[in-house]
Amino acid sequence: MRKSIRSFTPEIVPLDVVQSVVLGANRAPSSKNTQPWKLILVQGEALEKLRFDYIAAFNNGKPSTPEYVYGPDPLPEAYKKRAVELGKAFLTHKGIAREDKEKRREHDGENYKFFGAKQVFFLAVNKGEFGYGTFLDCGLFFQALITELDNRGLGSCPQYSVMSYPDILHKHIPNSDDLLFLLALPFGYTNKESIANSFVTEREGLDSFFRVI
Ligand SMILES: Cc1cc2nc3c(=O)[nH]c(=O)nc-3n(C[C@H](O)[C@H](O)[C@H](O)COP(=O)(O)O)c2cc1C
Repeated sequence: MRKSIRSFTPEIVPLDVVQSVVLGANRAPSSKNTQPWKLILVQGEALEKLRFDYIAAFNNGKPSTPEYVYGPDPLPEAYKKRAVELGKAFLTHKGIAREDKEKRREHDGENYKFFGAKQVFFLAVNKGEFGYGTFLDCGLFFQALITELDNRGLGSCPQYSVMSYPDILHKHIPNSDDLLFLLALPFGYTNKESIANSFVTEREGLDSFFRVI
């Protein structure tokens, strides 16, 4: 069963494996076969420089300036409830008390370290060349990417949080001025010792979202 993985071993996934993952994901369907996705892998020194700026931004409380807003704001009540429950359950699983502000901030900060991953995919589209459907196509591609990784025993975690600082992405990713970054996907070999990785999320029952007419 796939789940989000938020701690990795230091090993690098070899480029031939990465390429087979990406080629597999590239079989994702898209409207009229438009294939609007762009994918950038950042690793090695480039990733360490990017990560350094992200950690500094988080530590300095840099204001979030996302280039696109992910969803309805405020969240509809039902979604908000699930989001709050997720947050509580994850903190409890990690043994972090709600009132422990320092530990909670450390927990949030893991995002801006890309969970320590040695390799991170960034999904993007060309600026000004997208509509709702383009985002659907990209979502299908992204899920295919996650599945291709999972099929090879590799873990990953989608991240919108890091879209808070698109300026850092544009600074570190050459020729990216015309790209709108959508999501990040830190990935790698799963750290089996990590408490974060043994967390399993809940799901709503079938009758809450599925019906047969
Ligand atoms: C679009 C999207 C953005 C997400 N952003 C983050 C994120 O910034 N940080 C994080 O820890 N998890 C993030 N997640 C992971 C979700 O929290 C996770 O998928 C959800 O809780 C279900 O858990 P599971 O993936 O383990 O099944 C994101 C997932 C999606 C699909």
